[in-house]
Order: sequence, then C-alpha cells, then structure tokens
Amino acid sequence: MKKDRITTINKTAETIETDLLVYFAVEAKGKMPECDTAVHSQVKKAFELKDFSGKAAEQILFYPPARSKIAAARVLVLGTGPVNKEKDKGAALDMLREVGGEVAKVCASVKARDVVVCLPPPKHLSPALTDPEISAGALAEGIILGDYRFEKYKESTRKKTDYPGLDEIKFVCKDNLKIVHQGVEKAKNAAFAACTARDMANEPGNHWTSADFAAYAKQLAADTGLGYRCLEKKEMEQMGMGGILAVNQGSYVPARMVVLEYLPENRTETILLVGKGLTFDSGGISIKPSAGMEEMKYDMCGGAAVMCAMQAVALEKPDVGVVAIVPATDNMSGSRALHPGDIISHYNGVTSEVVNTDAEGRLILADALAWGIEHFKPACVLDAATLTGAVIIGLGHHYTGLVSNNNALAKAVEAAGSLAGEPVWRLPLNKNYEKQIESDVADIKNTGGKPAGTITAAAYLSKFVGKTPWAHLDIAGTAWEFTKKAYIPKGPSGTATRTFINLVRNWKPGKIK
Ligand code: BES
Ligand code: MN
Ligand code: ZN
Repeated sequence: MKKDRITTINKTAETIETDLLVYFAVEAKGKMPECDTAVHSQVKKAFELKDFSGKAAEQILFYPPARSKIAAARVLVLGTGPVNKEKDKGAALDMLREVGGEVAKVCASVKARDVVVCLPPPKHLSPALTDPEISAGALAEGIILGDYRFEKYKESTRKKTDYPGLDEIKFVCKDNLKIVHQGVEKAKNAAFAACTARDMANEPGNHWTSADFAAYAKQLAADTGLGYRCLEKKEMEQMGMGGILAVNQGSYVPARMVVLEYLPENRTETILLVGKGLTFDSGGISIKPSAGMEEMKYDMCGGAAVMCAMQAVALEKPDVGVVAIVPATDNMSGSRALHPGDIISHYNGVTSEVVNTDAEGRLILADALAWGIEHFKPACVLDAATLTGAVIIGLGHHYTGLVSNNNALAKAVEAAGSLAGEPVWRLPLNKNYEKQIESDVADIKNTGGKPAGTITAAAYLSKFVGKTPWAHLDIAGTAWEFTKKAYIPKGPSGTATRTFINLVRNWKPGKIK
C-alpha cells in the first residue's frame, strides 16, 4: 500500500463506493452496543438475536441491497470490546490498534482492495481516549500494521487471484477533521516505519548484510535530508573498535558502523539511538545448535528499529536532535574467526575476555555506544538489541526487558512503550551483577554465567555509557513471536520502532538529568 492512498475525509460514508465499509460497535455489557445510526437497525436485530454484543473482533457482515442508500459492496460492523471502560490509556489504545488489525483481517478474507472506515466518535470511547488524534491514530496504525505481508520471494508462484493487500484506506469522520487527519498522518509515519523494520528483518542473512544497512541508510538520507555516515572497516581499525571488528573476523562481509543524523540547527539536545545490527548470528566458534538457527537472521531487529525510527523522525522534524547508529556484521566462524579466550580492546580502551563468541551483541554495541556518546554528546542514549535468550525465560514474549541507569529515562521509555503497545519491564542493575563479569585476565569478560543473563549483558554495556543517562531494551523475546495480536502477523513485529518514535515525539528539553 502506498502512503498517499490513505486519506481522511468528511463525507457521508454511505454514499462512497467501496469494497468494504466499516463501522464500529462498542460493547456495553448486556446492553445494546453503541454504534453509528447508519447501522443501528442491523446491530439492534443482531443484538436481540444474541448474535452480536460488540465483543472485541465480533462481526456483522452484510450486503446492502441494490436499492439501499449504501453504495458500498459490503458493510462490516466490528465489535471493539469495552473500549469505553478501559481506564489505562495505553491499554485502551491497544484495543483500538487490535480492532484495526481485525479490519485488515476481514479485508483479506473478502479480498477487499479498498476500505472506508467510519471512525467511532469520542463519546463512544473511554475517557482515556478523549483525544481524537490518538484514537484515530491507533486504529489507523492497527490497519496498516495488520495489512503487512512479505511476499517478495513468492512472486514467481503468485496467482492473479491471490490477495495482494489493501490499496486504499479512507477514514471518514464527522468532527475534528483536522485533528483526526493529523492523527492519521502520524500513524502512517509510525506504522510504515515499523513495516519497513519488518521488511528488513524478513530479509534473510544472504540478502540483508551490513552493506544493505548502509545502502538503505544512504538512500533514506538522500530522500529526506538526514545526515549519513558509514564507518568502514579501515576506519574502525584506526579508531580501535576492537569489539565489532572481532565479531566480524570470521565473516566474508566487512563490518560497518552505519550512522543517520537528524541534527537541526536550533536543537538544544540530542537523543542517541543504537541498534544491534547482527545480520546473522551463527554463534561463531561457540556455534549455536542447528535447530532453529534460521531465526538468527532476526538478530538485526534492534538495528532495523533505530534506523526505521529515523524514517519517521525525518518526516516529523522534531526540535530535538536524533542520531541512530547501527553496528552491522554477521557472526560467523570463518578461518580468522574470534576464538573463545581471545582478549579484545574496545573503542574506549576497556579490554574484554571473550569467553563465548555467541555473546557477540554486547561486543558490537560496546564500540557503538562508546563512540556515539563521545562523538554526539547526547542527553541520553537508548539501545535496542536481540541480546539474550535469558530475557525470554524471564519475561516470555510479552515484555521487552529494560535496564537503565536513570529513573526518569526509564519512566519515559515505559510510557512511550505503553502508548505504542510495546510494553517494557524494568530489571535491576547494580554492583553485584557487575561482579559476575569480572575477568582474571582482562578488565571484563563477555558472559556472566547463567544467572540473570539479561542483566549481566546490560552490566557489560554499562561499562561503555559512563554517566550518560542510558536505557537498554532487550527485544530478544518481542522482536518476533511477540504476543499474538491482530495487528502483528507471524514473523518480525517491528518492535521498539514505534516506542522510539513516541519517545522523540514526547521529548521535552531538560526532561532527563
Ligand atoms: N542473538 C542472541 C540472543 C537471542 C537468543 C536472541 C534467542 C533471540 C533468541 C545472542 O547473541 C546470544 O547468542 N546470546 C547468548 C548469550 C550467552 C552466550 C551468554 C544467549 O542468550 O544464549
Ligand atoms: Mn549470539
Ligand atoms: Zn546475537
């Protein structure tokens, strides 16, 4: 779907010719659900027959007769669940996002190429959703994210009858057109960014390398005016980035440190985003078991998230500066590969004993964090990484793990994540965990044993951020196989992209000290 095919209009929905016209009905506990007068009689009938009560994802699909006032081929009334009762703003927004995902699912099942969506009026929604900008935005995000598909490598077997996804969405609203339009535009920026992150992740290791990260960033910069820079292997050698270079040793494709800069002249502060761009993680010499290893093409989801967040930043032009750095390489076991026991030296001079070559994410992030902080002097730094299997043991696939050295920043990330439907759960960090990564022969070692694997990985990273307010997002459990939701198809979720976008949008200078 093209971005300009999603529009907001103030028109009588019934008069619009479309494949599918969508209304919403809000569950009202034992009572007739709240809905648009245009479908009131159908909803009433269905409710009295006990066929429909407005529960989430419940549907009435009907075909207006030829003489009817309705010009659409089909009409869908979709239950939203009790979205008028939910007091938590993040939860209420996510209900709407899921409803949007259901719209996309119905479109796919009836092969609707264009859809007209009648937005529910604020009076039908929760008091937490009085702002029509964000409620319309959540619905729009849900439809766009739910309509996502990755079929690039299935083109040759494609049939004419196969559904290619939506071509057009029109949002109809009676009041607040301007503000709703703004909400839909923001939703487009965020949802398309997350879909691009999913595209990058879906590309397999042979089609998405450090060179592809660089090429994508270069093109994005050319299209939008962002600053682009790429540290090549030689430069990284001169700069002493011994972590990313060590991980890259066993690989055929040279590592790259890809940088995108949004640095407006009037900025007072800069936010630094760093994302793990490990394009395939075999484990290196500490090789992973073969079962499920194909999933390790997703080990670049942090890099995708920060790079794609920049796509939205470039469009929305906030006051705050934002820089994204993606340390990019694969982790292979070629003849020059890093050995277990090797001692390496990072950009900031900290030496590290590599006990396990499969704990590579922290090695590449360390250089990116230390250099990024020194070079851009950010007010805060955030990183996203598919860093540890341990986070899946701790939190499952429902929360992103958060470790931070700053309470205000941790709160801001929690809020941004909650509004995005990407919840984070904070884990502690203190000296006791740091002890686990003490080495006999170097400053630190790259694993801290089995206990608290997510926290000891963060303890490693903490050695490279100094006093800069920092938040680390371990997305190993949420970057794919994320909680089942209608707007998250199987495969990569694009998680953290929209969290970062929200964080930038809600940034206030001096917010983090
Ligand atoms: N990319 C993996 C983490 C991972 C595991 C992501 C499973 C998604 C699903 C990371 O590089 C890794 O291998 N971590 C090791 C660290 C260990 C050797 C200390 C892990 O978690 O097993
Ligand atoms: Mn690994
Ligand atoms: Zn990894």
